[in-house]
Amino acid sequence: MKVTLSTIKADIGGYVGHSDSHPDILARARELLGQAKGSGLLIDYHVTKCGDDLQLIMTHQQGESSEKIHKLAWDTFVDCTEIAKKLKLHGAGQDLLADAFSGNVRGMGPGVAEMEFEERGAETVIIFMADKTSSGAWNMPLYKMFADPFNTVGLVIAANMHGGFAFEVHDIKEHKRVTFNAPEEIYDLLVFIGAPSRFMVKNVYHRETGNIAAASSTQRLALIAGRYVGKDDPVCIVRSQGEFPAVGEVVEPFSAPILVEGWMRGSHQGPLMPVSVEDSTPTRFDGPPRVIALGFQLSSGRLVGPRDLLADKSFDLARQEANEMADLMRRHGPFEPHRLPLDEMEYTTMPQVMEKVRGRFTDIPAD
Ligand code: F6R
Ligand code: MG
Ligand code: MG
Repeated sequence: MKVTLSTIKADIGGYVGHSDSHPDILARARELLGQAKGSGLLIDYHVTKCGDDLQLIMTHQQGESSEKIHKLAWDTFVDCTEIAKKLKLHGAGQDLLADAFSGNVRGMGPGVAEMEFEERGAETVIIFMADKTSSGAWNMPLYKMFADPFNTVGLVIAANMHGGFAFEVHDIKEHKRVTFNAPEEIYDLLVFIGAPSRFMVKNVYHRETGNIAAASSTQRLALIAGRYVGKDDPVCIVRSQGEFPAVGEVVEPFSAPILVEGWMRGSHQGPLMPVSVEDSTPTRFDGPPRVIALGFQLSSGRLVGPRDLLADKSFDLARQEANEMADLMRRHGPFEPHRLPLDEMEYTTMPQVMEKVRGRFTDIPAD
């Protein structure tokens, strides 16, 4: 049976500040998606939060980019925004950049990761969600999962994975895409995805079968809006087991925290801390950035689960290390490399300050 798994998310208001989501919002979203399941549009759904982002995980048979599914998500965000406004939550409706729905939520503000596939005998899927960071944050974890034998030993010793994976990379500035085959093109691949603010892994495919293995959201709200409206706070779906990396290989990259863009005012580098859903509450300096992972088994589209995978004790040391990395970065205050380079910051006063002091700049005398 063909199933589409869609994860559509938006920050439609934070509680308190940008640190978490209000339970009333989650309850209302569950009610609305419950109605859509009752009407037969959805096979199943799971509503959760990652920090201040409302996450709608849905299964259905409408295919990718379905107008009906995207409209359902959009209407849910709009409805929940009304509650956010009543409670005067912070930044109510902040990710809803358009006034009216126009067929597809891509480019309108919400983040989308979707994939359609033939459900396997046992279909293990893992949904990663992050807060206070941008889509490029998935580049290194996806590389490790699908191309690094030190992370995924299945690439070496499992016959059904030994043929490797193909990475579809998007250049979000030029709106172009290119595909690289791992393992033979990993050096070329890394030239691009090592610059995650511009080049982002959109999809990963199992080369021998062509089957979809991973799909991420690559929206960049700053580019969509042309002004600051928050980091994208991305999502990513990964299929697991069998011809794909095992659950333990999929979550392994998060055991060694890396520095990602985001954190306070979307203008800093900070460690990506693996946490449980409950602990996805970026608080210290509005962070550090968080990642959660929900695992499900699909049963004819039914979402059996979730298991809150990064809640596991084996990530305790990673959390401690992330806190230590946070201290190291915070020591730099408003200096790079904690603060992002000028053109990557989501907030800046540079134009106004430059305007104010322009007349005071004089030529440096020649030696
Ligand atoms: C970062 C983020 C927060 C806010 C900060 C200021 O992605 O959401 O760090 O940028 O709390 O928020 P405003 O400008 O809404 O008061
Ligand atoms: Mg927010
Ligand atoms: Mg957020």
